[in-house]
Amino acid sequence: MRRAIFPGSFDPLTNGHLDIIKRSAPLFDEMIVAVLNNADKHPMFTVNERCEMIREVLPAVETDGCSMRVESFSGLTADFAKRSGANAIVRGIRAVSDYEYELRMALMNRRLEPGIETVFLMAGEEYSYVSSTLMKQVFELGGRVEGLIPELVETRMRQKLGK
Ligand code: PNS
Repeated sequence: MRRAIFPGSFDPLTNGHLDIIKRSAPLFDEMIVAVLNNADKHPMFTVNERCEMIREVLPAVETDGCSMRVESFSGLTADFAKRSGANAIVRGIRAVSDYEYELRMALMNRRLEPGIETVFLMAGEEYSYVSSTLMKQVFELGGRVEGLIPELVETRMRQKLGK
């Protein structure tokens, strides 16, 4: 059984995340989209809202037989991966600027849990500049984000900001 977790803040889910899910899922039998309950930050969406949005959007994603589920977690990603029985952590890399941070996390996670490998996928080039932070910023300032986030997420952002 090849089981992976795909951890992140997902505040909110972007089409870049969906691209990574779609391309990495066929490598695994099961994948858990693991939503960090980052209480110390001030997210736009609560962890439950983020999980619910991902659950609504996921059925439309072609995952080639990989069974998908969404869970929230607190604490260390490596601990969550271990408790979930995962043997891989999936992360996307967009640009060279992501590399250093991702390398540090991958090495630390491997030190914490040597049996769990981090698997990196290069972001699709059309999403290589897309981040949740940028999407929120552009949307809040009235810019167009269609095609970069799922329609449902855009609707929820509009509701959240009363636009
Ligand atoms: O989507 P993000 O914000 O880039 O995801 C970052 C995330 C959630 C993967 C990272 O912050 C994380 O793993 N946080 C949990 C705490 C932890 O394990 N920290 C040590 C990482 S080596």
